[in-house]
Amino acid sequence: DWTPAEILTEQVEAIRAKIGDEKVICALSGGVDSAVAAALVHRAVGDQLTCVFVDHGLLRQGERAQVERDYVAATGINLVTVDAADRFLGALAGVTDPETKRKIIGREFIRVFEAAAADVAKDAGGVKFLVQGTLYPDVVESGGGSGTATIKSHHNVGGLPEDITFSLVEPLRLLFKDEVRLLGAELGLPAAMVARHPFPGPGLGIRIIGEVTAERLAITRAADAIVRAEMTAAGVDAQIWQCPVVLLADVRSVGVQGDGRTYGHPIVLRPVSSEDAMTADWSRLEYDLLARISGRITGEVPEVNRVVLDITSKPPGTIEWE
Ligand code: XMP
Repeated sequence: DWTPAEILTEQVEAIRAKIGDEKVICALSGGVDSAVAAALVHRAVGDQLTCVFVDHGLLRQGERAQVERDYVAATGINLVTVDAADRFLGALAGVTDPETKRKIIGREFIRVFEAAAADVAKDAGGVKFLVQGTLYPDVVESGGGSGTATIKSHHNVGGLPEDITFSLVEPLRLLFKDEVRLLGAELGLPAAMVARHPFPGPGLGIRIIGEVTAERLAITRAADAIVRAEMTAAGVDAQIWQCPVVLLADVRSVGVQGDGRTYGHPIVLRPVSSEDAMTADWSRLEYDLLARISGRITGEVPEVNRVVLDITSKPPGTIEWE
């Protein structure tokens, strides 16, 4: 049994031996895996590392600031942020099919990252290594391909192109998620980041059912922020796997507020409990908590006049709606 401090020391030495005095790059997503992987590499080789954070405009409230401000303050890492929201929104215009959305977001991400990596390489006089936050379960999953059909094409910052001309540094390859979190705490990363629930690479783009627009993103982002704040305040974060907040953007229903009729959109809450996301059950959250969430969303997000609860297990429902 290894302590986080021992893993840290051992990994730092191994990374140093591998990278030497070459330059290295890492794509940060805001998620715990890439954050911990990059922080480890930074411990080992300092400013030889540059991180790239692509803001695709599909992030949740506060996520960019968490990376740019809190993570950089905690680690001292060199960070390049790319503002690509308009580009992603443009590419997603008119698109409603879930798989097409996923493919477009994945494709645009790779293009934007490649361009940013080329700039970094130019400034640094060449970049030899790419850090990826691959975990042990990812290694096992991609090794054991037994011809299963693709249910959803996953996109995350690990999903970079195969022909990319970097050597990979994967310091988390032997670790499970809980070990990565312990390591993140050992590295002094922001607690909110270390404890963060899973959030899909395609972001809010696959939590808006229908076309993704700036206005719909703002609605979803506002509702999601309320849900996360109330869940944290109620102390239930550790009890659930995650709680996607989904906007049914093409559905409207009649409501009433004050003396007025409304014709707004529903927000779906999808709180789930799970061990590994392969299967999941809907979480039996306290009614009082659900009531507070519902009251706040309908009170504070004018476009939403109904909040509904998804009580489907996985299978048959997947965790995300798209
Ligand atoms: P589903 O919807 O397939 O989700 O039941 C299972 C878990 O995977 C997350 N998820 C993703 N994570 N890139 C990611 O990094 C993706 O494209 C993606 N799609 C789904 C989802 O949030 C859940 O935890």
